[in-house]
Amino acid sequence: MKLELVEREKLALRKRPRRLRKLQSLRLLLRETRLSPSDFIYPIFVDQRLTEREEIASMPGISRLALTELQEEVAEIKASKIQAVLVFGLPVRKDSVGSEAYAPDGIVQQTVRAIKKSAPDLVVATDVCLCQYTDHGHCGVVRDGKIVNDESLQLLSRTAISHAAAGADIVSPSAMMDGQVKAIRQGLDETGFSDTAIMSYAAKFASAFYGPFREAAESAPARGDRRSYQMDPPNLREALREIAVDINEGADIVMVKPALSYLDVVREARSRFQTPLAAYNVSGEYSMIKAAGQMDWLDAKAIALEVLTAIKRAGADIIITYFAKEVSQWLREEEH
Ligand code: PBG
Repeated sequence: MKLELVEREKLALRKRPRRLRKLQSLRLLLRETRLSPSDFIYPIFVDQRLTEREEIASMPGISRLALTELQEEVAEIKASKIQAVLVFGLPVRKDSVGSEAYAPDGIVQQTVRAIKKSAPDLVVATDVCLCQYTDHGHCGVVRDGKIVNDESLQLLSRTAISHAAAGADIVSPSAMMDGQVKAIRQGLDETGFSDTAIMSYAAKFASAFYGPFREAAESAPARGDRRSYQMDPPNLREALREIAVDINEGADIVMVKPALSYLDVVREARSRFQTPLAAYNVSGEYSMIKAAGQMDWLDAKAIALEVLTAIKRAGADIIITYFAKEVSQWLREEEH
């Protein structure tokens, strides 16, 4: 009799985490991280040469859009309750100094104007870089086979100013040139765009996960690679220095890119800095899930939700993702 009591006491475990997992409603009540369409920025590609959309083979569900299709696309984005887009342009022509990047009627500038006309309250961010616009495909000016830093700054600043003049709310320098945030902040302030925010690709790693994007944006470097300006993937402390520098230079939002293989960087950045933090769930991260889903090797929907939740749990305030539209629709279906 006495023995039985002891046994029962032993079994009455005080810590039983499973108590809180027995019902879906209970699990929802206890959920620590929730995804919402307003967490996302949806990247869009707009191609000046197109008259109708063209699917990007390596990114199923994502297309290069024609300018004429923007209104329809924007309506869909708004219906999904997404608050922001990140605009990438494909110009009619490329040259050695990326002139179309800062042309007043360049593709990004036209796109921004068109979006702001049909949806003034949709947040418009623009990628500020030269690689889609240069014939050599590098993110800065090339001299004697080298990507020269300071000369590139002027062009990046000019590009950002032209985006701001078209109505961009946020300019997003991704060239990884030293001092780009400072040069852009100065340029914007001197030209009357002190209200235009900067989201800097602060810790941008030289990653193979950008592969599908380079097909989408036709921005692969003709020669060499980007390792003399993008970060070396093994470096966490350097990433934190990059972020600190950009905050110092005036970045309003800092970004870690890619997201999934760099969640430790996201977590560290979140705990060290108070500046809003974005993580870019890049093209390769999207394509891998899509491809495996198409092969029926895994459940792409469940994986996408798991991955995006993980990025948010690691500490990202904002997730830039090609899944934004799809996932926002799923999240809304779940509500009902
Ligand atoms: C431009 C830029 C790139 C991406 C965003 N901006 C390509 C690169 O740096 O090579 C990658 C985005 C993605 O892979 O989804 N510099």
